[in-house]
Amino acid sequence: MNILAIETSCDETGIALLAVTGGSADGARAPRAVVKENLVASQIKLHREFGGVVPNLAKREHIKNLPILYSRLERRLRARGEKLRFDMIAVTVGPGLEPALWTGIVFAKDLAARTGVPLVGANHLEGHLYSFLLPAPGRKKAAAGKAGTAAAKTKTANADFPAIALIVSGGHTVLLTMDSLTARRALGETRDDAAGEAFDKVARLLELPYPGGPEIERIARDGDPHAVEFPRPMLHEKNFEFSFSGLKTAVLYYVRDHGLPPADGGGKRGNTDDVSRADLAASFQEAALDVLVKKTMRAVRENGARSVILCGGVAANKALRTRLGREARKAGCAFHVPSFRYNLDNAAMIGLAGYMAHLRGVRYPLRADGSLDI
Ligand code: KG4
Ligand code: ZN
Repeated sequence: MNILAIETSCDETGIALLAVTGGSADGARAPRAVVKENLVASQIKLHREFGGVVPNLAKREHIKNLPILYSRLERRLRARGEKLRFDMIAVTVGPGLEPALWTGIVFAKDLAARTGVPLVGANHLEGHLYSFLLPAPGRKKAAAGKAGTAAAKTKTANADFPAIALIVSGGHTVLLTMDSLTARRALGETRDDAAGEAFDKVARLLELPYPGGPEIERIARDGDPHAVEFPRPMLHEKNFEFSFSGLKTAVLYYVRDHGLPPADGGGKRGNTDDVSRADLAASFQEAALDVLVKKTMRAVRENGARSVILCGGVAANKALRTRLGREARKAGCAFHVPSFRYNLDNAAMIGLAGYMAHLRGVRYPLRADGSLDI
């Protein structure tokens, strides 16, 4: 089945074309996906000026970018002698920023009306959850070389169940236990800020640009992760909930009481004994990762999990990938994480989520639902 997928939940406009086959409604068998095109127009530069995403600006940009990406998709296919053909349209209906979500939904409805192709709603968080099933970019080149097509081929990847999944993004931090791709239960989520939100807010305190996650990670590489022992909120509580706002506040108080270290003050490789910005970033990241990794691994032990899935924008963090991957393997689990291009918001993952919803007969209403649950 060829799926045209549309993603506009936040500040990335995404349009993708995928061929998806197989899989089962009970989620025991994973579908096989070939990503033909995955186009993303990022608005990061625009929102950077405001230190975060401005919903109405995002809406305006999505409205501008959607037809541009759609034409680009047609052009790219034409350049390979292919026509844009699809059997289903999938669009993100939530969760996310409602004015932004609506732009994708309106565009998708119009496209469905013009083409007569059925339209399904997709859950953004299911998109992140299934993103590890998308083929790695390395495979794309191999397939292109061999078969003379730009399509990415993949073996049918799947997790061993039961699995524990950690979804960490700018809007969500959720821990799930899964008996199959579709039979799952939330163990806990954040009570306040999402992990990515905490990275973004701490980055702002350290005068780093938006989005803060990659910036914190970049400067943390030069810092001492134990320069300041920030709190590890809820680490020892016997539940699977998270809280990141206290950690952010601890960084805020540190900066208020000690002043913001100079931007070029070095780190452990620098020339000063004082705590540097790099040290603060590294110490914050260490505290956040401690909580994420330790709570996930406790969930693994308590649920007898056989694999661990890490996904969402914060899963782009190499320190988190490395540490959780190491701990998962130490516990005898397989570790699944999407390839870098599918961590951040994209439409390819929405195509997969739409396909799974179609397979299961789940019909999300075609209207924006900012707080849609997984
Ligand atoms: O999944 P995503 O693209 O959008 C949402 O659905 O929210 O996630 C974006 C979030 C932002 O908060 C961003 O700062 C964070 O992911 N992020 C990272 C990294 N790259 C992106 N956080 C930590 N380390 C990174 N390398
Ligand atoms: Zn996302």
